[in-house]
Amino acid sequence: MRNLIIAIDGPAGAGKSTVAQIVARRLNYVYIDTGAMYRAVTWLTNQEKIPLEDAAKVSEMAYHMNLELLYREGKTTVRVNGLDVTQEIRTPAVSRLVPGIAQIAGVREAMLKVQREMAGRGGVVMDGRDIGTYVLPNADIKIFLTASVAVRAKRRWQELNNRGFTMELAQIEAEISARDKADCERDIAPLCQAPDAILVDTTDLTIEGAVTAILNICKERSTVV
Ligand code: CDP
Ligand code: CDP
Repeated sequence: MRNLIIAIDGPAGAGKSTVAQIVARRLNYVYIDTGAMYRAVTWLTNQEKIPLEDAAKVSEMAYHMNLELLYREGKTTVRVNGLDVTQEIRTPAVSRLVPGIAQIAGVREAMLKVQREMAGRGGVVMDGRDIGTYVLPNADIKIFLTASVAVRAKRRWQELNNRGFTMELAQIEAEISARDKADCERDIAPLCQAPDAILVDTTDLTIEGAVTAILNICKERSTVV
């Protein structure tokens, strides 16, 4: 299969990063987690005690920070100014704050530049919220991965539980709904399905089922593009 550019968008807990990583591994492609980039900006804003509402300062920080996504042997390591923050960016506190940071125009511009450079000449699976609509509008394959809020909340609950965080399922569901709303209703690059994206609903799909569905779409498309 030639070096395709595969864009996967969708809401939190749809299975984007899990499924995208497996698809990338099977195709021997690079996986790029753009959500991790916004999480890293959020983490550093907190670390440097920059007020979240100071858009100019946060944007300047985002432009100048040294953000590295190192994808090796199927795993992504996130480094900020040389420090490994792979775990730190996944806390519920960062999840709550990230939509506010992600709606700052200067932050999105800074990330857009890096993301387009990373996609380069293809052989990549990039996941996020605005990849098919805005970052890589000419992607060869666009997938909109989704699932019901209840199922997504349950998955996140399980995941947090496995990592030692205890949170009420109802609270997670409320936070996921709030994040969906913020991501879908923001003015710049909102989360929405691109007209040419293929919808894959994982509510009743296993991880392997979702991977197979996407690989089949890739096979079909690669014979026509
Ligand atoms: O893993 P999860 O789906 O919870 O979120 P994520 O992919 O790590 O993204 C975290 C947040 O970053 C999202 O809720 C968005 O606010 C923001 N984001 C974005 O605005 N654009 C992207 N391309 C990716 C993430
Ligand atoms: O990146 P995104 O927020 O869209 O989702 P994720 O972090 O890849 O997946 C959230 C959780 O759901 C992970 O623990 C996955 O293992 C799980 N998952 C699942 O149980 N069934 C699926 N079909 C997809 C994901």
